[in-house]
Amino acid sequence: MNYLVTAGPTREFLDPVRYISNRSSGKMGYALAAAARKAGHAVTLITGPVALTPPEGVKVVPVVTALDMLTAVRAHLPKSEVVIMAAAVADFRPKFVSKTKLKKRTLRPVLTLVPNPDILQTIKPLKGKRLFVGFAAETDHLITEAKRKLEAKGLDLIVANDVTRADSGFDVDTNAVTLVAKGGNPRNLPVLTKTALAEGLVAMISHPRSTWADFRF
Ligand code: CTP
Repeated sequence: MNYLVTAGPTREFLDPVRYISNRSSGKMGYALAAAARKAGHAVTLITGPVALTPPEGVKVVPVVTALDMLTAVRAHLPKSEVVIMAAAVADFRPKFVSKTKLKKRTLRPVLTLVPNPDILQTIKPLKGKRLFVGFAAETDHLITEAKRKLEAKGLDLIVANDVTRADSGFDVDTNAVTLVAKGGNPRNLPVLTKTALAEGLVAMISHPRSTWADFRF
């Protein structure tokens, strides 16, 4: 199958020197791209700026901003059968981007932001028979928020993690996640390495949906 995986943060520039971003390391997205490739799939990895070496045999599309990521996702969507949005897309960008470095003496300590498009919601009408998988990094109300996002973004599956845990989320090699599939009950998985979780997810989604609840990680 053709996989489209996004990974890492986006950067939203104010000027050539400064940007707004987030703590995403890209590890989960890169692990998913590697797992899909290992399972014999064709993989396109659309990646924000991260300090990782991409897996062998994967087509890498580097992007910087959320708008770049949306353009790349749209371009690669038609030939994709599975879309996994593991990227931590910045929700806002500065309204004004200066071509030259902003000088401290002329700056006010207030930044005007405008919303970035939601990539999953933008491509939702183009879903067709594709499988859409999203991620939800939360600090509170994990399941409620995961269900809300699953519905709003038209997903088949959402992988929710509590980023306040030391063994889960940003920059660590393990993840403790809850899977919420469309029409299914939330399922807590044990702490797994991001590699094991990625390999399990790729194997699980290659099976019929009716078997997902019993899939062994
Ligand atoms: N996502 C996206 N486009 C955005 C923001 C998020 O496609 N502009 C995707 C992420 O890649 C992830 C899912 O939506 O798969 C959930 O992202 P998250 O940041 O948890 O959710 P938000 O919709 O940004 O909601 P909130 O900020 O309220 O938690």
